[in-house]
Parts: sequence; structure tokens; C-alpha cells
Amino acid sequence: MANEFELSDGGANRQKPQTEADVMTTAQGHPIADDQNWLSAGERGPQLLEDHIAREKIFHFDHERIPERVVHARGYGVHGHFELTKAIPQYSRAAIFNEEGVKTPTFTRFSTVAGNKGSPDLARDVRGFATKFYTQEGNWDLVGNNIPVFFIQDAIKFPDLIHAAKPAPDRGFPHAQTAHDNFWDFISLSPEAMNMVMWIMSDRTIPRSFRFMEGFGVHTFRLVKEKGESHFVKFHWKPKLGLQSVVWNEALKVNGMDPDFHRRDMWDAIDAGDFPRWDLGIQVFDEEFAEKFDFDVLDATKIIPEEEVPVEIIGTLTLDANVDNFFAETEQVAFCTQNLVPGIDHSDDPLLQGRNFSYLDTQLKRLGGPNFTHLPINAPKCPVRHFQQDGHMAMTNPKGRVNYEPNSWGDGDGAGEERGPRACPMKGFQSYEAPVEGPKLRVRSETFADHYSQARQFYVSQTPVEQTHMANALTFELSKVGRMSIRKRMVGHLRHIDEGLAQEVANGIGLRELPEKVPAARDPITDLTESPALSILKN
Ligand code: HEM
Repeated sequence: MANEFELSDGGANRQKPQTEADVMTTAQGHPIADDQNWLSAGERGPQLLEDHIAREKIFHFDHERIPERVVHARGYGVHGHFELTKAIPQYSRAAIFNEEGVKTPTFTRFSTVAGNKGSPDLARDVRGFATKFYTQEGNWDLVGNNIPVFFIQDAIKFPDLIHAAKPAPDRGFPHAQTAHDNFWDFISLSPEAMNMVMWIMSDRTIPRSFRFMEGFGVHTFRLVKEKGESHFVKFHWKPKLGLQSVVWNEALKVNGMDPDFHRRDMWDAIDAGDFPRWDLGIQVFDEEFAEKFDFDVLDATKIIPEEEVPVEIIGTLTLDANVDNFFAETEQVAFCTQNLVPGIDHSDDPLLQGRNFSYLDTQLKRLGGPNFTHLPINAPKCPVRHFQQDGHMAMTNPKGRVNYEPNSWGDGDGAGEERGPRACPMKGFQSYEAPVEGPKLRVRSETFADHYSQARQFYVSQTPVEQTHMANALTFELSKVGRMSIRKRMVGHLRHIDEGLAQEVANGIGLRELPEKVPAARDPITDLTESPALSILKN
């Protein structure tokens, strides 16, 4: 039988359907006769609101945008898998860490932090390195960065940090003097940021591509064994291709020529079958060992030195498939530090604890309701059973009559009745029973107070060429700061880190005299030793 579609024009016009499967429909599935001419009253008359085809098309277009992420807006996602090469039952009961050779599907999103969705890839910025592991026991998200430490110790400061780092609220464009003033003003008043400042002024914040970056979970987490024994752990990603960066001059040129350089690099490599790979490493230590450090392992501005706790490689991540759809996958993926499987637990790191609240909260708004785990990119690839229901866009409501517990259904009285799921202490997530006590306070522990030692260690560990790059980066950045007092305060901090570096930067930004060292090594806001509030308490 002749194809009815060929009858229309013999298949000559490629803008006409050639087969049944080509026929365009509305979102309601109605076949569309004409999608290019709005229904109008007469040839030159007004368009009619009655045209449900046109209105549906425009209505949907009008609502295509969702809010970009409040941070890490510029990102690029890739599918892959994680293969465990060394089981660690001695540390963790997590299934993902217990069967060598098992491949766990993953989705990884790389990102810059401060820029908006359309910002250039080669900006000097921290890179996000977030991986969702679709394990047999649910999703585990390792939401890390390419720098092992962070700017602040307490999540309550995060909005201030990000406000200061993003474009100033009046002009709204990045790289204005106001933006530099705001950022360096905040930093110079936040001694805890000094270690991170050394890292961001290093070549690590202008990586050659995503494929040549390290990744870090940053926080100290816990690995928990079957009997509730726990070790502290830090997670590391080590790129098989090694660590490489561009220099500032190259970064500027690449940004001008191809602002999508990093995204394109990843797409092309995967398209060509050149799959990037990272080893997953862990640093494991116990509570007793943690006590021996002269800093606090719960402080996210500190690393655990690899000489003291070597990184043990336990598996490999391979990124081997580009997304089918950028929006559905890269934009709609929702990472969250609270997505943990049994056998991995939080520590009391005050930055981590705040993050656990923030991600879910922002995603509720960004993804339009509580059901974003129903989206394929966020849905676990293992059975999901619970009594949660309804809400915007609910797609997996409980089946049958049972939507609560305790219930007595399915106990034999009524044939075919579902009883629904039950919590299981043996298989389920058990929080590590860390002892907790103490008064409620808004004061940070003394053990978080040393802000310069690791900054100094990082600086001196760099080669002379890398040190020059750091001095140049600081000089460039601070030369964009209008307020002399901010420039001086920053150099005052650098003097705690390295006098030679401080002098070089001071010369570079035209300070005739080296400013005094910043007197308080402590945070001026949370250091309450001089505050009237504390003296009242003391008296
Ligand atoms: C997003 C890492 C600290 C709030 C992200 C992303 C990464 C990341 C990689 C992008 C996720 C993606 O690709 O979708 C980190 C690291 C931190 C840190 C390593 C410190 C160690 C914080 C803190 C807060 C915070 C302290 C708030 C208290 C957010 C928010 C998003 C985000 C709201 C956007 C999430 C979304 O819209 O889906 N972070 N972050 N982050 N982060 Fe953080």
C-alpha cells in the first residue's frame, strides 16, 4: 500500500512528514496540521486567542527557564562508572566498597563556582567536581571541588562569601573594581580563608581541562563498619592523565577565543572514545590519631598531610558517555551532601552540617517542588519504597491503599493486599553513635584558630615557577582593588605566610612601605575574647 504521507507530495518536501512517526503533535498528543501560522480572523486580521495549538507552543516556551544554581551555575555533566579495585570491609559496610570488580553507574558534573551560566570556562575559580554514585543501596553523592580546602569554617558565612565573590549588587557585571573590592574586603577580614587563598592563587584554579584536575571531598567524613566502628576519611580523585594547568596569559586568550573550552574538551574526548579516568583515594585515620594533629580534622580549611596519612587507592572512575540532553541531565541533576549510603556518615564539620541543609533547600526551589528524585537523572537505580506521596509533579506515588505505618494490611486477612515497606535496622542507615554534649554556643573551638601554618606549607611546597605565578596572581588581583586599606590588609596577612611573597606583592601593587602584620590571627567577628558580651559572661 502506498505510504499516505508520500501521497501528499511524493516525499519531496523534507518539511513534510515522511512516516507516521514524523507527525508532530501537541504535548497532549494531538496531531498538528500547521505549526507556523497562528489562526487569524481573515488573512490580515488579528490573531485569535482560540488557537490552542499556538498558545500551547508559546506557553511552554515562556516557561523554559528555571533558576540557575545560586553557585556552580556553569557546569558540565558526564555519565560514567566507578569500579572498586580494593574492597575495604575493615572500614565500611557500604556495598559500593565491598565487592571488588563491581561497576557502579555514575554521573559527574564539573563546574565553576562564581560565574553565571554563561560565564567563560577559563575564569580563575575553584572547580566543582560532584559525582553521584547510583549504588545498590541508593545514591551516594560526593560533592567536592578541585581544591582540598575551603574558604570558611562555618556554613553560616557562605552567603557572605558568595555575595562578596559574585558581581557587586549595584552594577551586576563581574570583574568590575567593586567586585574585586568586595571579594578581597571579605577575604582580608576572614583570616580563616588564607589557606584557600593560597590555593586559589595557584595554577590549580586555571586547569588545562576538567580531565587534568584533581578532586577532593574536602570534609572529613566517617566510614562506618558493621558493628558501628568508625574511622575518619578524606576522599580524593587523582586524574590518570595527571595534573595540568594553563598559565594566566593562556587562560585569557582561551577565554576570548573559546569560552566553552573545557566543556568542548570533555565532549570531544568522550565522543572520540578517549575516556578520562580518575582513581578514588581515601585517607583513613581514627579518632585517636586525629587528636594528635595540631589542627582540627573537622576544620574544612585544613588538609590531612599525605605524608602522615597516605592516600590509599580503592577504585577508578571512568567517564564514558556524554549526555543525551543538557537540560534534562546536567541542569536537572541535584547533588546533595546528605545523600549518603549505610557505611558512610557525616562528621561534625560545621561547614558540612550546613551544606546538608542548603542543597535540598535550594533544589526545592530550583527544581520546582519536592519530587525531583523522580527525574531520571536523580532517581536511584535500585528499588525505592516509601510512603511519601503527592506534591508537584508526583510520578511514583505508592500503589494500592497503604500509605502509612504502622499498618496491619497484608497479614493474611485480605488476599492480595499490599502491606508496604518496613524500616530495617539491620540493612538500614545507622548514624554513627558519636557522643555529643555541651552548652549551646556560637563560638568556634580554639582548635580551629591557626589560619596560617597550612597556607605557609602550601606556598613553600610550590616550585619557584609556581610561586612566581602565585605572586603574579595576587599582584594582578589586588591591583584591581580600589581601596588601599584592603590592599594593605591583605599584604598584612601575607606577611604571616611568607615575608618574601608579601614584599613582592607589596612592590607589585605600589605600596611604598610594607604594612603591619594583621594583628589578630583570629576571625575579627567570632573572636569574642575582647567583646563586651564575653566579659559579661566572665564576670
Ligand atoms: C553547589 C561544592 C560549600 C551551597 C555546589 C556544587 C558543588 C559544590 C560541586 C555543584 C553541584 C552541581 O554540579 O550541581 C561545594 C564544596 C563546598 C561547598 C566542595 C565546601 C567544602 C557550600 C556551602 C554551602 C553550599 C557551605 C551553603 C551553606 C551550595 C548550593 C549549591 C551548591 C546552594 C547549588 C546546588 C543546586 O542548585 O543544585 N557546591 N560546596 N556549598 N553549593 Fe556547595
